[in-house]
Amino acid sequence: MPVITEIEDLKRIYRNRVPKMFFDYCESGSWTEQTFRENSSDFDKLYLRQRVAMNMEGRSTKSQMIGQDVSMPVALAPVGSTGMQWPDGEILACRAAHAFGTQFTLSTMSVCSIEDVASHVDKPFWFQLYVMRDWKFVVRMIERAKEAKCSALVLTLDLQILGQRHKDLKNGLSVPLRPTLSNIFDLSTKWAWGRAMMKTPRRTFGNIVGHAEGVTDLSSLSAWTAESFDPRLDWEKVKEIKKLWGGPLILKGILDAEDARMALDVGADAIVVSNHGGRQLDGALSSIRALPSILDAVGDKIEVHLDSGIRSGQDVLKAIAMGAKGTFIGRAAIYGLGAMGQQGVTRALEVIHKELDVSMALCGKRNISELDRDIMLIPEDFAGKWADTSSPAA
Ligand SMILES: Cc1cc2nc3c(=O)[nH]c(=O)nc-3n(C[C@H](O)[C@H](O)[C@H](O)COP(=O)(O)O)c2cc1C
Repeated sequence: MPVITEIEDLKRIYRNRVPKMFFDYCESGSWTEQTFRENSSDFDKLYLRQRVAMNMEGRSTKSQMIGQDVSMPVALAPVGSTGMQWPDGEILACRAAHAFGTQFTLSTMSVCSIEDVASHVDKPFWFQLYVMRDWKFVVRMIERAKEAKCSALVLTLDLQILGQRHKDLKNGLSVPLRPTLSNIFDLSTKWAWGRAMMKTPRRTFGNIVGHAEGVTDLSSLSAWTAESFDPRLDWEKVKEIKKLWGGPLILKGILDAEDARMALDVGADAIVVSNHGGRQLDGALSSIRALPSILDAVGDKIEVHLDSGIRSGQDVLKAIAMGAKGTFIGRAAIYGLGAMGQQGVTRALEVIHKELDVSMALCGKRNISELDRDIMLIPEDFAGKWADTSSPAA
């Protein structure tokens, strides 16, 4: 077992193990990748205040997200095609998250179906919904999430149209996989991955094949995914979904204070300040820079979570100290899964937990509830001072 001391170690092993097209699928942002890069580099602009001679004994990272207990305020974000990074990946990642005392979010675009995951784990998980043009599919998906006893619905709002990722096009990444020469060469260099994948029957989008009208096999699926996200999604539809679901609702992909107020108005339980890990609007603010203005707008009225760019416990500490009640990790968990399966996800969570716990202590704090902006040095212009571009009154 290699010595894993940081998330970057898992990423190195993951890169060597998984076919290039799946590594690139995970490790890309849209277009110039400016937002993807700044999601992480903007955390470095926040400094922590080292404090001394303060009792550090009896610390805890326990917290709550939407009223549910978590061992640290870090849940697993929904990641499509997780089961292509490691066979049965969604089931294994969910087990790792639950064993660690935190939550797992299953993507609509998962390989293992919602029923499959529910029958292989002991506790409820969260389900992430994409709104498709096929409304019957959406309604049925919500019913399936209820039947699977999911304990929250995470409705993603920032991907009704796909941001372009150059590498996916250049690698010919598609569902189903096209057997081009370079794809075959790529797959042939990762024999351990290929051998393991051959042992599982789960190699397609489990929530969709056999459930969406007209999608019975792989050849119809590719046409379906290209056309199915509904670009007409609006706040009325969000209200309708809230009503149909009837349980805890988390709105994911909020990056603007105005949208945060809309989320509040529709009665969501929480929002995730997110730019989809830099995979959608390139040139948008990083999540951590967008967070302060959203907290100013709605922070005392709705639970605010954050994802995008978190690679360490220090990043989690900064997001929580800024005012987020919880965070999600996407890629950091996928690096672990792709490197070492369930054990790798556990390792990713352990690394982040240790970093969070020790850094919190070195800031002179013993509990998550004690964290506030006081532990940080925040550049005055961190949240941005922007020109007023609203149209002048007529
Ligand atoms: C490979 C990949 C696939 C993703 N698939 C989904 C998805 O199916 N649904 C969704 O809501 N978000 C999806 N996301 C976004 C994540 O939920 C999350 O917002 C993002 O990964 C957070 O940024 P981070 O990876 O820097 O932690 C995906 C992200 C990645 C990297």
